[in-house]
Amino acid sequence: MSGRIPREFIDELLVRVDIVDLIDSHIPLKKTGTNYVARCPFHTEKTPSFSVNRNKQFFHCFGCGASGNAIGFLMDFSHLDFVEAVEDLAAFAGIDVPRESFVRQAGVKKDDLNSLYGVMEQVAAFYVEQLRGCPEAIDYLKARGVKGEVARDFMLGYAPDKWNALAGRFSQKLLIEAGLLVSKEDGQAYDRFRGRIMFPIRDKRARIIGFGGRVLDDSLPKYLNSPETSLFHKAREVYGLYELLEKNSKPQRILIVEGYMDVIALAQFGIHYAVAALGTAATQAHLDLLFRLSSELVFCFDGDKAGREAAWRAIASVFPSLKGGRSCRIMLLPHNHDPDSLVREEGLDKFIERVQTAQALSDYFFEHFSKDLKLSEMEGRSNLRTEAESYLTQLPIGAFREMMFEKLSSLAKQHILDNQAILAYKKQQGKYRQKQGRPSLPGFVMALLLQNPKFIEIVEQKEIDWNCLEFEGIEKFKSILQVIADEKPSNYGVLLEVYRDHADEAIVKKLAALDLMIPDDGVEAEFCDALNGLLKQGREAGITRLQAKAQSKGLDSQEQETLVKMLANK
Ligand code: UTP
Ligand code: MN
Repeated sequence: MSGRIPREFIDELLVRVDIVDLIDSHIPLKKTGTNYVARCPFHTEKTPSFSVNRNKQFFHCFGCGASGNAIGFLMDFSHLDFVEAVEDLAAFAGIDVPRESFVRQAGVKKDDLNSLYGVMEQVAAFYVEQLRGCPEAIDYLKARGVKGEVARDFMLGYAPDKWNALAGRFSQKLLIEAGLLVSKEDGQAYDRFRGRIMFPIRDKRARIIGFGGRVLDDSLPKYLNSPETSLFHKAREVYGLYELLEKNSKPQRILIVEGYMDVIALAQFGIHYAVAALGTAATQAHLDLLFRLSSELVFCFDGDKAGREAAWRAIASVFPSLKGGRSCRIMLLPHNHDPDSLVREEGLDKFIERVQTAQALSDYFFEHFSKDLKLSEMEGRSNLRTEAESYLTQLPIGAFREMMFEKLSSLAKQHILDNQAILAYKKQQGKYRQKQGRPSLPGFVMALLLQNPKFIEIVEQKEIDWNCLEFEGIEKFKSILQVIADEKPSNYGVLLEVYRDHADEAIVKKLAALDLMIPDDGVEAEFCDALNGLLKQGREAGITRLQAKAQSKGLDSQEQETLVKMLANK
């Protein structure tokens, strides 16, 4: 994704913007010492552990571990993807994202994309106008109880029952690219949507990316959706998200329903927090998107067999996303009802009550097994263990997973160990013990360097022969050093961009976040001392090892040469 916008531009942007100003414009910061602090926007807390550092151009929360540069902040705080965050940051700085940049994906130029969005917008407006002039379509919506206001909010329209209603009005090339025309073999093209109520699908930023269309009678197919285009990716988008965020950008929960009309009926009754996956089961990308906006997802399904099967598939797909603080509920509706019909029949209060009392995923999960398996018998309990365990191991390590294993143990009447979790816990403990003291000397030097990338000059002046040194983690040390030397980042925030999604991102962030408790005017001296100490220690470790080897197994010619050099350098 980062290839879309020139790297130099992003680097320059990160230098131009001050992360303190940026974050302060979203959550007021208070100055304490060299840092600015606030209560963390990414977890609930009473005392501030969220801190922003101007020199490093970096934020870090000591409570929940969230950290990053200005782009990372916008991605997390405003729920944006990378490109969106860069665009927002550029807007904050009052500069344009370079236009000549190519959007590599699907080989479409940015200008072309803008024309595509433009044509979608115009076509949607055209469909709205057509609806006004078509009593039959208006009657259909009225008969289904859709009010004018909600039709307007969702920009409902009507595609006339003609083969070429769009063709004459807009650019044929754009219409085809937008999926609104279907091309025939003879080069001719015709309107994809004819004689249908039109539901525009908007992305988070209000841009129309696709359409759904419903017939007015019971002919088939009932619904037709836009095909995949360079704007529209079904697996990543949900219907109703823009409209939801318009009403509330931080919803307490999000309801996932099946149909367009369900989202619309619920909104009309005042439930503005429903979205629909676009004619597919909810994908991992859908869940990630929605969990970024709300910590509770409620899946809504028909209570019949097909609905229960769909619920089970949804459960299986949601397991890997269930990190701490997130939860998920399953709401099964009475037979032959969907949210649209139910909210109309029972009214708002009854429906809300159903949402609030929807079954927690954990209960639903174990009930599902307990129904089919005879848990009074050893055979049944053993089957339970085999079947349930494969789901539970999909859960992220954490308290919820632990409790699910406890519950499984109690139902199976056998203590079931979660080996992966035990292993992860042990590793964590090891790390924690290391963390309690100062970092190791190489870690300390690297932390200082990451926090003050200009010190790379000091390192370069020394013309160090790395082959003559040995210390733990030297390869990683060298590779990070190389990146800093190549990039010469003007601050840590810029460097962090190089490490986005890189294998070393976590370690780099961790070192950069260390509070080394050195007063500003002593940092450089401290760095020089530590670096010299590391070089000395590294040389000595190398010498000791090679001398020992010389005495036991002997050295090959290259090792001999290295040893001689090391001794000379000493
Ligand atoms: P349903 O068949 O459950 O219809 O499809 P519905 O939403 O209750 O529709 P109404 O109330 O009859 O108008 C649920 C969803 O599945 C997708 C659509 O997204 C629809 O909203 N679907 C359904 C299609 O994509 N194509 C179809 O032919 C049918
Ligand atoms: Mn329906």
